[in-house]
Amino acid sequence: MQKRNEGPVTILAIESSCDETSCAISRDGIILSNIIAGQAVHEQYGGVVPELASRAHMQNIVPVVDAAMKKAGCTIDQLTAIAFTQSPGLIGSLLVGSQFAKSLAMSLDIPLLAVHHMQAHVLANLIPGAANPAAGTPVAEPVALPSFPFLCLTVSGGHTQIVVCHSPLKLEVIGETLDDAAGEAFDKSAKLLGLPYPGGPLIDKHAKDGDAGRFSFPEPQIPGLNFSFSGLKTAILYFLQEQKAKDPRFVEKNLSDICASIQGRIISILLNKLKKAARTTGIKDLCIAGGVSANSGLRQAFRETGESLGWRTFIPAFQYCTDNAAMIAITAHYKYLAGDFAPLSASASARAEW
Ligand code: KG4
Ligand code: ZN
Repeated sequence: MQKRNEGPVTILAIESSCDETSCAISRDGIILSNIIAGQAVHEQYGGVVPELASRAHMQNIVPVVDAAMKKAGCTIDQLTAIAFTQSPGLIGSLLVGSQFAKSLAMSLDIPLLAVHHMQAHVLANLIPGAANPAAGTPVAEPVALPSFPFLCLTVSGGHTQIVVCHSPLKLEVIGETLDDAAGEAFDKSAKLLGLPYPGGPLIDKHAKDGDAGRFSFPEPQIPGLNFSFSGLKTAILYFLQEQKAKDPRFVEKNLSDICASIQGRIISILLNKLKKAARTTGIKDLCIAGGVSANSGLRQAFRETGESLGWRTFIPAFQYCTDNAAMIAITAHYKYLAGDFAPLSASASARAEW
């Protein structure tokens, strides 16, 4: 494998850990394109079916890579390195992306970069123009990025973590969920309400018209900076059973208020732990990341909490919250600069170890 020492660093990055096939091209840490193909095939099953996800990745990967190269105006001879999501995720899905990336790196004789999906979610906050203190609005000018060390609440479908980011390549997990992830809490609650998968965005949508104070769900008392969401799921299940026994149309009549109340509780669980983490570490630059950071209620509550406590808050642009290859590209860029290359024998892993 050859590392080019001159010219811009142009990275082709692939993300295929779950049910999105994505390819991004970055040049010197600037994202030139970020193409994402979703997989509608899972909707009818109420969750991601691993085998169907792998097959869909196989169908999507070549067109997605082509589209990313075209949008970036990039030719194959300009590529300096190939990056892929190595772990964690669905093993069959990861294998499609990793084999594709390895074949490309080998045939072009350029370096390979293996990226951890959770680290990439955190570093989405370092995408230039993607994070800013008033996130949510499109950014035309370069804006401030968080300073190191910063804290990041990473909330996705499979993980919930509070991480101290000491530098792009040095991350320390200081709190995480003991059971369900925040995204699962949203998706499982949505399922109990009869909403299709993935339910998180739908709860967000219905919650906008609802009263979060209408129904009260318990906040678990977990020591330290860890989280637990399985008790909330059970409380919602019993609450709905009880109410539906009295009125079979209870959910239909009160959907917005139920969604707002569930969302409000998930947000308060997340932000109470984040406040504790900020207090104990003394860190004032705070970020959120991962699919659940696309939630409008969380984005707003995070910003408001930051204003009242004197934090600088950062949120990735919407398209960099849920799974995307741009976050793999930015992480790979830092790995490239550090010379942290992977051998062609690097294998994908379903497990989460950093
Ligand atoms: O980061 P991500 O795209 O994939 C994983 O790495 O897991 O996160 C997916 C999760 C799903 O649970 C989905 O329901 C949730 O993010 N999600 C949301 C919203 N958008 C995505 N949850 C609440 N509100 C949203 N707007
Ligand atoms: Zn993710």
